Amino acid sequence: MGETFTTRSFLAAKQKNKKITMLTAYDYSMAQIEDGCGIDCILIGDSLGMVIQGCSSTLEVTMDDMLYHCRCVARGTKNALLVGDMPFLSYHISDEEAVRNAGRFIQEGKVNAVKLEGGQSMISTIKAIVRVQIPVMGHIGLTPQSINVLGGFRVQGKEEAAARGLIQDALALEKAGVFSIVLEAVPEELARIITEKVSIPTIGIGAGRYCDGQVLVINDILGLYSDFTPTFVKQYAHLKDTISSAVSDYIQEVRNQQFLEAKHVFSLDESVLKILKETEEGM
Ligand code: KIV
Repeated sequence: MGETFTTRSFLAAKQKNKKITMLTAYDYSMAQIEDGCGIDCILIGDSLGMVIQGCSSTLEVTMDDMLYHCRCVARGTKNALLVGDMPFLSYHISDEEAVRNAGRFIQEGKVNAVKLEGGQSMISTIKAIVRVQIPVMGHIGLTPQSINVLGGFRVQGKEEAAARGLIQDALALEKAGVFSIVLEAVPEELARIITEKVSIPTIGIGAGRYCDGQVLVINDILGLYSDFTPTFVKQYAHLKDTISSAVSDYIQEVRNQQFLEAKHVFSLDESVLKILKETEEGM
């Protein structure tokens, strides 16, 4: 039985200079594997819109989609901290609606915390959620729910004004009470400045080597999702090839009648078979 990772463990890890490990998961089996390997934090990301649902962005993902996947992941997790990603429009309309939806993540999704995208414009929403004792993880830099405004999946904070804006965002999020901040697709020097300026942990995705932790999409690192692979992804396995080869072997063996073999079948007791045959013949 491993050690349970909490939002307090996030802070302790930063203080001890211990890197935080985080991956996405969307179902029971994957959560069980990641948790069994000792991952610190599992994010049920709205990236599921792309890697599970096959949409071209995360914008179509709904609260019901998220809660369903959160519950599946929660059943497979014993020790990792579970963070549910608040989907597009679930926290933008009013603070009241944001609190209600964050509460659904805790009560129905069985997660420990929520994540939401945005900087200074989200402060009142974050404060409202934190006020009801729900831990919030921030997310700045490339925020995929703003894809139509950002004009594509591109690195953020490259110019001075944009870089300063992200530093201010991070400081404002810390002040509002988030327990950590995801930095997505920003230059590593900027991520380093932010990481040194805030006392809460930064978790990088395409944000270089100096963040307090790293997060990636599980389907990307396993080589399962091939529509688009960002340069910051390292593939630790090539499961698409492995699965294709297994599926092709299955197809071939069924067609060639090599599958099933005797060891895969259920047999009828001789005496029952005899009676069956006799009665069938007599009819
Ligand atoms: O939705 C997601 O998976 C995310 C991570 C990529 C940070 O937000």
